[in-house]
Amino acid sequence: VFLFAPLLYVAAMLLYMGSLPLDVVPRIITRSAPGSVYRSPQLYARLRPDMDADNSTDALATVWRQTYKGGVWRPCIHNLTNSLPESNGYIYVEANGGLNQQRTSICNAVAIAGFLNATLIIPNFHFHSIWKDPSKFRDIYDEEHFVKRLQNDVRVVNKAPDFIMERFGHNLSNVFNFKIKAWSSSTYYKDVVLPKLVEERFIRISPFANRLSFDAPPVVQRLRCLVNFEALKFSNPIATLSETLISRMRERSAESNGKYIAVHLRFEEDMVAFSCCVYDGGDEEKKEMDVAREIGWRGKFTRRGKVIRPGIIRMNGKCPLTPLEVCLHLI
Ligand SMILES: *[C@@H]1O[C@H](CO)[C@@H](O)[C@H](O)[C@H]1NC(C)=O
Ligand SMILES: *[C@@H]1O[C@H](CO)[C@@H](O)[C@H](O)[C@H]1NC(C)=O
Ligand SMILES: *[C@@H]1O[C@H](CO)[C@@H](O)[C@H](O)[C@H]1NC(C)=O
Ligand SMILES: *[C@@H]1O[C@H](CO)[C@@H](O)[C@H](O)[C@H]1NC(C)=O
Repeated sequence: VFLFAPLLYVAAMLLYMGSLPLDVVPRIITRSAPGSVYRSPQLYARLRPDMDADNSTDALATVWRQTYKGGVWRPCIHNLTNSLPESNGYIYVEANGGLNQQRTSICNAVAIAGFLNATLIIPNFHFHSIWKDPSKFRDIYDEEHFVKRLQNDVRVVNKAPDFIMERFGHNLSNVFNFKIKAWSSSTYYKDVVLPKLVEERFIRISPFANRLSFDAPPVVQRLRCLVNFEALKFSNPIATLSETLISRMRERSAESNGKYIAVHLRFEEDMVAFSCCVYDGGDEEKKEMDVAREIGWRGKFTRRGKVIRPGIIRMNGKCPLTPLEVCLHLI
């Protein structure tokens, strides 16, 4: 009977339309599915009076009352003292992507190098065509501290020694480059990458963003943790600037005893364009986003057969939050 339901519906519609006087054009009201359209500004306008009236909770105070399980932060690292095993060779990675992906890549590179008893060459940052940042490792991070903090765990050097480079005509392009699937397991590195490393003494892995799975044995996780929380310190110019910003934020949040929340919204053109979500900017927004998609991902979104359904993307919760939405969540 369900198969016939649409037929019945169409038949009924035809009958109904047939019975309408011909000079009246029926207005068709299309209703979009709940959650498929960006309506946060309207929602906010409706909530605002209630928010103003509600002075019963001090949200900020509640946020700061939460402490980590048991109330203490514990370091996840124990220090090693035994000497390092002999090196199986040199690993060179290219960390592509933005600052976050680069940082994760560095953690993964150290973890892999340690796991394979290899020597890591200071990771190279891929020059990105969008934000055109030529920074090298030492422009962003304190390289001396990095090498020193890892000295009991993983050998890290600035470049491969001459006697190795000689074998490759002093040209990195001649070094065997591994193309590794995203989120590969540590077992894959041991079974597939290690034999090649031992054979070649020097390998390259590029690109290297997201090339190691999240779950890994404790020895690998420990190294990731060591890098992220202890070995990676920002370089002096960055650290100095952030100290300035932090002290300003403390000063200016005097009302909450110097406690503040810093949020990286990442509501930026490329991110919004990539998401294919539609906001409330109308035609102008559509034009700008189409252009941004073409610049960033030439042809990827306009391929034949590619269907983009912004409403479905939004209903699946995959749209970047606008500043307004983030604030609504925080309060
Ligand atoms: C909340 O606001 C109401 C009305 O403005 C006022 O009577 C009340 O004292 C306020 N409560 C607090 C805790 O400030
Ligand atoms: C491990 O060593 C570092 C210096 O290399 C030191 O700062 C840190 O406190 C040590 N951690 C522990 C848990 O002993
Ligand atoms: C790395 O060295 C340790 C300590 O000598 C050893 O137990 C481990 O099997 C080595 N792993 C590899 C992949 O060579
Ligand atoms: C390095 O090798 C690549 C390919 O093998 C070659 O195209 C390039 O010109 C070489 N670079 C130098 C500086 O010799």
